Amino acid sequence: MLDLATGTGLVALQVAKILGSSGRVIGLDNSAGMLAAARRNAEAAELSNVQFELGDAEKPSFDAISFDRLFCASALVLMSNIPSALRCWRDLLKPGGTIAFDTPSKPFGFSQRASDAALRHGVDLRYGEVADTPGKCRALVEQAGLEVVNIRREVASVAPIALDQMIEMYDERLDHPAWRGIKESGAGIRAAIRADYIRSASGDAIDGAVPNEIALCLTIAQKR
Ligand SMILES: C[S@@+](CC[C@H](N)C(=O)[O-])C[C@H]1O[C@@H](n2cnc3c(N)ncnc32)[C@H](O)[C@@H]1O
Repeated sequence: MLDLATGTGLVALQVAKILGSSGRVIGLDNSAGMLAAARRNAEAAELSNVQFELGDAEKPSFDAISFDRLFCASALVLMSNIPSALRCWRDLLKPGGTIAFDTPSKPFGFSQRASDAALRHGVDLRYGEVADTPGKCRALVEQAGLEVVNIRREVASVAPIALDQMIEMYDERLDHPAWRGIKESGAGIRAAIRADYIRSASGDAIDGAVPNEIALCLTIAQKR
């Protein structure tokens, strides 16, 4: 199994646990820091059937037809060319092999709020719109020569978040590649976007808590 953009190995480690000695897992990421954390997590979990490799998920250097399962959790929309990445990933699969990925679907909690605030100040953070509905996910996998097994939209969290925490999440998230547009804008615009975000969150708060609905499209597809 190959976990593309594995991060700290959340999916890779779970699958490695389930497979035990019956299978091997590779986690691929382009961040050395993420991989160091993933390796520490594997060691702590005493898992020896998982390895983590540094590389670009858009151009993985593995042999074609070498994996039974591919996963890409919370990262497909970070790829610069999603159709090309999916075609590449299809080539890595053995016939009958499956790929599973999730993509954000509106409303997307605090990050949607930040993206709207940024757009009001001329910073376009919109991403992932190419895969934010089951219909768009279907089109993407079919264009890549894969067959849909299952696609569903699921609300992953409906718990309101305290306003303070909503602001903290915003500040922490500034280092995320998808928010580069805010980070690289001038100090004045950055401050205006943050203030706008806080104003919008405060305006929606009920008893100090802001609604934070996060919906995802969950897609499973197969190579024939
Ligand atoms: C939101 S995190 C998701 C991590 C993990 N899949 C999870 O669900 O916890 C996105 C990850 O994608 C990685 N990433 C982004 N673009 C990538 C690329 N082109 N190749 C490899 N990894 C990439 C980042 O380094 C980060 O670890």
